[in-house]
Amino acid sequence: MAKRRRIYEGKSKDLFEGPEPGTIVQHFRDDVTAHNNKKQGVITGKGVLNNRISEYLMLRLHDIGVPTHLIRRLNMREQLVREVEIIPIQLVIRNTVAGSMATRFGIDEGTPLPRSIVEYYWKSDEFGDPIVSEEHITAFGWAAPQDIDDMLALALRINDYLAGLFFGAGLKLVDFKLEFGRNYDENGDMRIVVADEISPDTCRLWDVETRKKLDKDRFRQDLGNVAEAYQEVARRLGVLPTSGPGDVAESKTVQ
Ligand code: TMP
Repeated sequence: MAKRRRIYEGKSKDLFEGPEPGTIVQHFRDDVTAHNNKKQGVITGKGVLNNRISEYLMLRLHDIGVPTHLIRRLNMREQLVREVEIIPIQLVIRNTVAGSMATRFGIDEGTPLPRSIVEYYWKSDEFGDPIVSEEHITAFGWAAPQDIDDMLALALRINDYLAGLFFGAGLKLVDFKLEFGRNYDENGDMRIVVADEISPDTCRLWDVETRKKLDKDRFRQDLGNVAEAYQEVARRLGVLPTSGPGDVAESKTVQ
């Protein structure tokens, strides 16, 4: 393949210039980081699994009319995505107390929440992604009130849908993170689309029966068998790659 221009090197993914204007190639690596980059490692095969899992989940969102940046998967580690203007806010949607919420409020991990809670975090490596309010987001110009409304409505819809989808696979969607971008069509009209990835790197997923953690917490908390956990999620979703040629072929283009 001709040398491509890398436009961004992330903690676990790289972005390359796409084949046509307005497109980007998203490459999933095996690198993993936690605790704001203080803990680093490699989970062999993670990039392949996350590429597949994220493709699958974004396609399911597309099925229910939620716009995403995905155009199609290109190969084992890459997908073609629409170029978007990333909104520098992460939305975290929580159904059950875990992670930083358990620490911040001293509530036992696993405590169910009476309703789903959405939190906003400013994407800033320098400042450790601090939690922010809607007022911060609008005052600092990170997003307009309408953008926040759109992201919130999409996030709640995605949560309802994915919680059911995962439950059907014997997995509890404890919490997850979403990123959004602004995508402009040929007339210059803007729409907010889901960007980045949705995978065991960005979701907490517990076995419904045993509460076994099947996500990045296995790395964060040194629980072992990290790759096996990601494989288990892929297997339950029916997307575990085999070594057949189907893995190399491109997937269907999202219309
Ligand atoms: P937290 O409990 O550490 O705040 O994380 C909440 C959820 O968001 C969890 O599923 C992991 C995900 N997440 C990311 O994907 N990226 C991040 O940078 C952070 C802070 C959380």
